[in-house]
Amino acid sequence: MKKKYDLHAPYQPDSFKFKNKKTVEEIIARYPKGCQQSAVMPLLDLVQREVAVDGAKLSPPVGGWVPRAAMDHIAEVLEMPPMKVYEVASFYSMYNMEPVGKYLLQVCTTTPCWLCGSNGVMKAIQDTIGLSHNYETTRDGYFTLLEVECLGACANAPMVQINDDFYEDLSYDRMVEIIKALQKDEIPPKGPQNGRLNAMAANGPTSLEEQAKKAGIEAA
Ligand code: FES
Repeated sequence: MKKKYDLHAPYQPDSFKFKNKKTVEEIIARYPKGCQQSAVMPLLDLVQREVAVDGAKLSPPVGGWVPRAAMDHIAEVLEMPPMKVYEVASFYSMYNMEPVGKYLLQVCTTTPCWLCGSNGVMKAIQDTIGLSHNYETTRDGYFTLLEVECLGACANAPMVQINDDFYEDLSYDRMVEIIKALQKDEIPPKGPQNGRLNAMAANGPTSLEEQAKKAGIEAA
């Protein structure tokens, strides 16, 4: 899906400077001399996290995203053309290039999640907070919806990634509960939402049973 962004939009700040300069130095030092440009991805990630921390204090709140001024600053720090930084940021889906809500709901709707009920998850989001289109954000700044392809948790389908965390084995009702908790800034426990352990069968171990027994793992 094509990412939505506008480098000249009015919401773009005029300037950006890293708050955590020590982390910037540590990241750059991970790469051999002359290859510092390799730090572009972790620095973009750092931008997004710093913007999210500041954005959480705003009213309405704003989630993590990468402003153009930050990309220009990275280009300056790494001595590379700004266009190269724009290319990386616009290519990878984990970088948000326009402001998003405090909680970014990335709903997987690829086949396994779809077969297991991602339509119900999407409906729960629409019924509870009225979001149905990609990059749509609630007026209170709390939520942005994004429909995504497989996030690699198909054994626990259907699932949603909320900011950094996976919420799996979802149902319509559980998704509604999660949204209501987040509206109060209560973070529900991540992982499977139906009580099972990780991706184990709901009725307990069905293979490596001896080892599971030794580890004290039983049916949920
Ligand atoms: S299909 Fe949804 S995580 Fe793989």
